[in-house]
Amino acid sequence: MCGIVAGTGVKNVQTLLLEGLKRLEYRGYDSAGIALQGQDGRVHRWRAPGKVVGLEALLDPKIAGSTGIAHTRWATHGVPNEANAHPHQAGRVTLVHNGIIENFKTLRAELVAAGRTFSSHTDTEVVAALFDHLIQSGRPLREAWLATLSRLDGAFALAAMVEGEPGVVFGARRGAPLVAASGAGAGFLASDIMAISGKAESVVYLDEGDIVFVRPDNIEIVSATGKPVERQLVAAPRSITMAEKGNHRHFMQKEIYEQPEVVGRTLAAYIDTEDGKVSARNGVDFAQINRLLIVGCGTASYAGQVAEYWFEKLAGLPVKVDIASEFRYRDPAFLTGDAALFISQSGETADTLEALRLCKKAGLQTIALVNSPHSSMAREADVVVPTLAGPEIGVASTKAFTCQLTALAALAVQAGVQRGQLDDAAEESRVADLMALPGLMNSALATESKIDSLASELAHASIVLYLGRNELFPMALEGALKLKEISYIHAEGYAAGELKHGPIALIEDGVDVVVIAPHDALFSKTRSSIQEVRARGANVIAITDEVGARELEGEVNTVLSLPAVNGAMTAPIISAVAVQLLAYYIAVHKGTDVDQPRNLAKSVTVE
Ligand code: F6R
Repeated sequence: MCGIVAGTGVKNVQTLLLEGLKRLEYRGYDSAGIALQGQDGRVHRWRAPGKVVGLEALLDPKIAGSTGIAHTRWATHGVPNEANAHPHQAGRVTLVHNGIIENFKTLRAELVAAGRTFSSHTDTEVVAALFDHLIQSGRPLREAWLATLSRLDGAFALAAMVEGEPGVVFGARRGAPLVAASGAGAGFLASDIMAISGKAESVVYLDEGDIVFVRPDNIEIVSATGKPVERQLVAAPRSITMAEKGNHRHFMQKEIYEQPEVVGRTLAAYIDTEDGKVSARNGVDFAQINRLLIVGCGTASYAGQVAEYWFEKLAGLPVKVDIASEFRYRDPAFLTGDAALFISQSGETADTLEALRLCKKAGLQTIALVNSPHSSMAREADVVVPTLAGPEIGVASTKAFTCQLTALAALAVQAGVQRGQLDDAAEESRVADLMALPGLMNSALATESKIDSLASELAHASIVLYLGRNELFPMALEGALKLKEISYIHAEGYAAGELKHGPIALIEDGVDVVVIAPHDALFSKTRSSIQEVRARGANVIAITDEVGARELEGEVNTVLSLPAVNGAMTAPIISAVAVQLLAYYIAVHKGTDVDQPRNLAKSVTVE
């Protein structure tokens, strides 16, 4: 959350910062700002509420400079207006921040007592004021920066510059991502290497607690006590392809359509296509694991919930799925033989990362299922199992989710084989099911126009309920989450069997109920739930397959028929396409901001 980009020794820093902000906008888009040290020796600053385009309109390209810092904000303290937008300034200091300074009230009171005044409600301005205060009190810059950081509690990444000192950017990482990089005589800091891709030649992925002084000709990293710290400088990825929308109206639509391809690519990393078996090259031995803890947030945690059914069914492996924000504060009790799997698109979600650290500290084997290969989780886990979805720009997760499911399905087969629950034939049959996924997903995408017309009717709904059983219960949760986050319609997902235990009270004439009901072993049970809600006036939309569609004829209001699938493993992945398209088109009909829905950010790096 919040994106930071900074540079020094850059030919045209204003252009670098603006381009960097556009690439980081997925991290937050409540407001944006840029400050640079002009050739006139002054610091120039522009800030605007809303998206980066609003800021761009304010910039003055005539003001040149080689050192600057910039920020795109996801508001924590203070409403998203101009006054609260970063960079914040105090005296000679200009500073941007991602994270939360927990003790900012105490620090602010001290600084007010020392005669300082504040112009925003942010915790960030307090850091700028403290740094400036220490400089004004005569401390050398380096010492003042270390002393400032020593007073801060919380999780943060910071970048600062000092008026009259254009040759250095001050940085720090504690609990939020930050990379330092250099290239062509310039130094850079950024929340994500993507911001400076193409400019950076070598990069350091900073570690927790690192304090950094970035200069055009060197990157100096020290510890909290000022002792030099050695970090590996690696070649920066040459080009991180900046995603383009192509012919699609939104990134989300494009990413939904990319799924057959990226699911295929992810499968290739887990499956030996020649012999039709799982490749198991990841070094995880599920035979040695007595219980698998799966931890994630939001959509990633729903992927974990689907996988729970698979690991238990195929491998007889007990699984416990947790939401990271609960798990990390619960003092979880561990059993001998526990291993922990963390699911995250970004690999930076604060709660999931802390949960990983907690498990690592407790001595568990930690496995990260991540989409960002350079992320904190990828670097800190014992084992990395990748998803190969490519950059996901739409804030609502789509292709990363189906790639997570694909990788989890392959891991569950691997576990079944390693634990002696799947023989060769069973393994090959499961693998064949998975190999069919890209083709099946293509067929599911062909339902687009039907979903579009259904969506035009549902766009007026004030509440939509989603029902499913077994692996399709988490898909009901995911369908409801997708809908609420991009269309702002109140939606809830329930296990169909739970309906009678309360939620059925919500049903009255015309309430829309989406039932995910492929023709599987539990079809007749789900059918009963359909009848129960229909009897009470619900408008029922069934997401099913060809056989299910025939059986449900006359029993539901609308049928969406997806391709028939052989196994329980493929049904949730195929139904994901339908719930994504439904949410997408409802949002399009409502005219909401599909790719950047209100109040959300792509990477939640604050708890
Ligand atoms: C929903 C969505 C979020 C994320 C969650 C975890 O569409 O995108 O619920 O799934 O914030 O993010 P990652 O996977 O980056 O840890």
